Amino acid sequence: MLICIMDDSTGRCQHGKFIAPASRLWSADVGDDPPPSDQGMSLGLTEHKKDDRHERLARIREALGRRSIVLIGLMGAGKTAVGRRLANRLELPFIDADAEIELAAGASVSEIFAEHGESYFRQGERKVIARLLEGGPQVLATGGGAYINTETRASIKARGLSVWLKAELRVLLKRVGRRDSRPLLAAGDPEKVMKKLMEERYPIYAEADVTVDSRDVPHDLIVGAVIDALAAKLGCGTKADKVQGRKKVK
Ligand code: S3P
Repeated sequence: MLICIMDDSTGRCQHGKFIAPASRLWSADVGDDPPPSDQGMSLGLTEHKKDDRHERLARIREALGRRSIVLIGLMGAGKTAVGRRLANRLELPFIDADAEIELAAGASVSEIFAEHGESYFRQGERKVIARLLEGGPQVLATGGGAYINTETRASIKARGLSVWLKAELRVLLKRVGRRDSRPLLAAGDPEKVMKKLMEERYPIYAEADVTVDSRDVPHDLIVGAVIDALAAKLGCGTKADKVQGRKKVK
């Protein structure tokens, strides 16, 4: 089977075939397991606190400009689940890079690996992510190896704000155990593979703009931690934060 990962800039794939552009996935289209709305999250909060939250989210959006929030980290770190919810809170589109690659190739990630190997997948991944980054602002969840590729990392640094969801081995293994669609893990003992990937990749993920612990807690708590970290990085406190800050200084 011939699998093409299309390049939207030329309209052609690696084999020179012309393929129609892949459609974009938006948070509202993703379907299953809908993330709670910000309003739902805020039940029980005073109007004042709600206003503060909205103000902070608006400031984050403003500070982002056209940049994308790019979630990076190992398989099982929660990039897609956290990314969907984060996009919903920020009222930004959510895009999953692996889903876009599959759409562009007309084949699953496993099929691409099996038919053409990892380096072919990385070439397609680099092109698809470079294209997606032109469409910011948005929340973009990437596959675990994307940020490790030098060129993909450079594109993310140029057009995105990267968030490393850092998780312990135990948490990663528990989460990936639920899916068998990852070719790198299917190739050997998942624990050994994951340990090796942690050794190789953690020093590179550490270049991310922001790092958040992806603990074994409900995803909405991780989303809250990501929003706090983004606000701190972008200098987006609320008026209340500032007053609080001034009080602390005194
Ligand atoms: C990979 C991670 C996968 C997918 C591919 C390769 C990796 O994505 O891109 O199987 O190299 O770590 P997830 O991190 O979303 O599982």
